[in-house]
Amino acid sequence: MNRNAFNTVLLASASVLSLFGAACAEPKNQPWAMRTIARDYTFAVRDDEGAVVVEGRTVEASELNKGRLAYVHYCYACHGMNGDGRGPASIGLRPSPRDFRMAAYKFDTVSEGLPNDIDFKRIIKGGLHGTAMLKWDITSVELDQVIQFIKTFPKAPCNAFVDVSPECVDKLEHYPDSSLEEKLGSVFEDTIVKLKPSEAKLGLQVGQPKPTGEPIVKQHYDENDDVVVDAPADPWLGKDAEAVKTGEELYHFKFECTTCHAHYLTRKAIYDYKVAREPQAVVSYRTAMFYAVPQPNAVPLFGVATMPPDFTMNPIRSMRAGSELPDLYRLIAAGVGVMPTWAQAAKPEELWALAHYVKSLAELRSPANTGKRDALKATLHGDNFVPPPPPKKEEPAVTDEGAGGGDAAEKKDGEASTGADAKVDAKKADDKKGDDKKTDKKAAKKGVK
Ligand code: HEC
Ligand code: HEC
Repeated sequence: MNRNAFNTVLLASASVLSLFGAACAEPKNQPWAMRTIARDYTFAVRDDEGAVVVEGRTVEASELNKGRLAYVHYCYACHGMNGDGRGPASIGLRPSPRDFRMAAYKFDTVSEGLPNDIDFKRIIKGGLHGTAMLKWDITSVELDQVIQFIKTFPKAPCNAFVDVSPECVDKLEHYPDSSLEEKLGSVFEDTIVKLKPSEAKLGLQVGQPKPTGEPIVKQHYDENDDVVVDAPADPWLGKDAEAVKTGEELYHFKFECTTCHAHYLTRKAIYDYKVAREPQAVVSYRTAMFYAVPQPNAVPLFGVATMPPDFTMNPIRSMRAGSELPDLYRLIAAGVGVMPTWAQAAKPEELWALAHYVKSLAELRSPANTGKRDALKATLHGDNFVPPPPPKKEEPAVTDEGAGGGDAAEKKDGEASTGADAKVDAKKADDKKGDDKKTDKKAAKKGVK
């Protein structure tokens, strides 16, 4: 960033703002980023070890105003003067820029609660590849100021992504009017009104800022203030091929990442794998199994249905050059937006194997591997294998329609199964139901029994 240009903008914005300040009180419905911040804010934070700082962090108004000017310079075009993700350059962007009033983030390391500053620093410095959100090469001081400023946007009074009632429209029209601002406060200075035992244990008291989320994966800053992921040691070092093979198996079978993401194994390979382990297995496939399944349940949080990436085609947004494996470990462990955390379900060596596998797929995007990638795609899409009927017969046919999750448009191919297999089938559907409850509730809506 060119310092002089920045200073000019600072001066220009400062004089515009001081004009308002000098001539009259700022108009009531002045967009948030145009208003001078007049008070200090106390935000919830964790220290560099990830421990809750009980008293929070108080950021002075003067710092926040510097952050505000940096925001107007670098960020508002997409994220909007009111932090609503509707800046002039946001039109048509997919994914859309984040609405900072919604308290919903994707690429943090917390499964619940608000991200920590170290997450913001990693995201803003590292960028989100394949989206309009670039890497921001700004000084550490500016970065911190802008991060503190984006925490000041008053909470959304209602969910504009799903609520189209006249009341909501009216409230948003007046956002952020000063009465709302007092009533709602900002998302990050939310205070504790009732104490949970876990919060009492941390030494927190009623009225203190609600802690930000507990990091699932630790991170620290290196000497250049870049964020380093502290994943446990990679047990597959030097055994990459083995890791990729294990990861492939975990991805397709144990964790069924393919409920949402594309399959990268042929129908035949999937059949062989399942039948080798369970001769009675009824193998069926979701339609469009070589494509990802859109996730409409992301709409209330992010405004648009999200598409799980095809790792051989789409950039992995939060994977930074030079930190591919630890970043994959971090994001698979912690989850991404509507993608759940896998930290409880998977052991560290499994998470690492998945990271190696996804990296091997992502490497197919390099120009040197185009031939290999196209060959894989051709094999997958050219695969017309139909599983032979399972060994036993004679009882009423049951299909396992619905067990695969996916969105409403997705249908199973619906092979019939025999009575003996029906049990296996029902059990699978049951297992699946448990999974889907954890991950996403769509399957329940579809009536998985
Ligand atoms: C050219 C448009 C554009 C600009 C300018 C921009 N962003 Fe973004 N930003 C986006 C988009 C698009 C996303 C959503 C990406 C996604 O969902 O994958 C995003 C997402 C984010 C997120 C949320 C990440 C998460 O984990 O959910 C943060 C925080 C953020 N931006 C901060 C900033 C800051 C701070 C600036 C200014 C320094 C900035 N952005 C400038 C487009 C932009
Ligand atoms: C419930 C559906 C679902 C399941 C199951 C799922 N994912 Fe995802 N995944 C998503 C979605 C949706 C995104 C894109 C999120 C976004 O951009 O908002 C995603 C994104 C990703 C990304 C890219 C993250 C980035 O920074 O761009 C990786 C890598 C990934 N998933 C790996 C996995 C692995 C490995 C598994 C299985 C252990 C898995 N996913 C299971 C829905 C899912």
